[in-house]
Amino acid sequence: MQENTFVCNFNLVKTHTVKAWILQEPGGIQNMTLKDLPLPAIAEDEVLIAVKSVAINPIDVKTRAGKGLYGVLKADVPLILGWDVSGVVAETGNKVTTLKKGDEVFGMVNFPGHGKAYAEYVPAPAGHLTIKPADISHNEAAAASLAALTAWQALTPVQKGQRVLIHAAAGGVGHFAVQIAKYRGAWVAGTASAANRDFVLRLGADKHIDYNAAPLNEQVSDIDFVLDTLGGDTIDRSLEVMKKGATIVSIPSGLNEMVSQKAAGKEMQGYTFKVRSSGKDMEAIAGLLQRGILQSHISHIYPFAEIPKAHAQIKSGRTRGKIVVTLS
Ligand SMILES: NC(=O)c1ccc[n+]([C@@H]2O[C@H](COP(=O)([O-])OP(=O)(O)OC[C@H]3O[C@@H](n4cnc5c(N)ncnc54)[C@H](OP(=O)(O)O)[C@@H]3O)[C@@H](O)[C@H]2O)c1
Repeated sequence: MQENTFVCNFNLVKTHTVKAWILQEPGGIQNMTLKDLPLPAIAEDEVLIAVKSVAINPIDVKTRAGKGLYGVLKADVPLILGWDVSGVVAETGNKVTTLKKGDEVFGMVNFPGHGKAYAEYVPAPAGHLTIKPADISHNEAAAASLAALTAWQALTPVQKGQRVLIHAAAGGVGHFAVQIAKYRGAWVAGTASAANRDFVLRLGADKHIDYNAAPLNEQVSDIDFVLDTLGGDTIDRSLEVMKKGATIVSIPSGLNEMVSQKAAGKEMQGYTFKVRSSGKDMEAIAGLLQRGILQSHISHIYPFAEIPKAHAQIKSGRTRGKIVVTLS
């Protein structure tokens, strides 16, 4: 942020400029540019967050490329990508009663809408945020936003004693899903490459399934609940290892439209799922982080100026846990 008109104690002057990565047109990494923009205005129910950390998700890359949420957001061009933030409340709207200046907060902002997280200051509905536990870093908190919220919301039906299968258990959503399914009292199997075997077992999984070693139906059976993070053939192969009446929840949009029909054909339940911003659910996640039940595993940290490198990493499809961008 430029200092020339800065007033101390967060009494921000509206003539400020703040740095933000903007997307004028969908396309490659080179389409994102770092610009100076006016300090964002906030609505009555919003707070302005001085951002410390941002987490990167596959939906950021899909939207940048003109897929994902681009169709929903294109009327808002130029876009500021990103949804996961952790930072400090710098200003509050007139109707905000739950947060105050100086609070350390985190959450997934305005999903599925315009998140605007790749910026030094982010406007956010107070109802999408929760207080960051003091012992959790801003990096860990940002990491535990969209991916943890997805796992938390998608695994709502999981019950104690069930046999749960998590696909891509070493990834952003998967590594939180393993921990949350264990917290809910399930027996948990997770698919990952051999290189991520120990990581998946350390998360608490009862069984690691190496998807390169043998077909899924030779490695696991009698599953009550599947979290599908891959779509396509993974749905068909999962149905082969599920019990009658079991449930498959599929999250990779564009690759999962047939899940209900495929499951119904085998007397099972299948549905697609989309995460939604929720301060109440973020509060539950904050509680689990504070108690050490849930941990963010961060494999890469990039400075704000290197967000394009973070996009290249997440696009690889090989990220272990989460990647974050720090502004501290
Ligand atoms: N609908 C929603 O609300 C929602 C929310 C969040 C995410 N999503 C979508 O869900 C998908 C996963 O998101 P994410 O954030 O978890 O992605 P991610 O962090 O990029 O996932 C990377 C992981 O995928 C694993 N992987 C790759 N191919 C695999 C395979 N064939 N079998 C098992 N694991 C494999 C890799 O492990 P190895 O290197 O060991 O293979 C890696 O650890 C994305 O398509 C994302 O857009 C949807």
